[in-house]
Amino acid sequence: GSPQSLYERIGAEGLHALLEHFYARVARDPLLAPLFPGSRDSSLWATTLEKQEAFLTGFLGGPPLYHQRYGHPRLRARHLPFPITPAHAGAWLACMRAALNETPQIDAASADELHQALSRVAVHMVNQPG
Ligand code: HEM
Repeated sequence: GSPQSLYERIGAEGLHALLEHFYARVARDPLLAPLFPGSRDSSLWATTLEKQEAFLTGFLGGPPLYHQRYGHPRLRARHLPFPITPAHAGAWLACMRAALNETPQIDAASADELHQALSRVAVHMVNQPG
């Protein structure tokens, strides 16, 4: 049979815990925070988290929640309003690494696999030179 998906290994609760840790770090990151609507209205962090949770659920092999709620992700296009340099991508991935480390529900092998997959996507979000 097909191997267990990363989503099944991490679980909905593990993913949610990860994203709580991740956006708490993003909100405190001096480079990243100003890009996010939550930095102007803190109630908007919940919306940002919900969209990312829906996206990653499908991305990791679970139900395609983002697609169902918002249509085709077109991730690069949706990031074009935000100036994203290689330094932003590095900071984003550093927040993710740290958040993975503080989420014990996610085992080390799954964490490494997820971080590698996200590293490949993050490179494509860069839309400004350093
Ligand atoms: C949305 C920044 C990488 C997935 C956003 C938003 C910002 C942002 C500012 C808008 C949030 C909002 O409107 O609530 C960044 C930066 C990145 C990055 C600086 C660094 C490279 C990624 C990666 C992924 C991703 C790697 C996927 C694995 C998403 C999704 C949304 C989003 C799904 C919601 C899109 C929507 O429906 O509006 N990102 N992002 N982002 N980002 Fe990123």
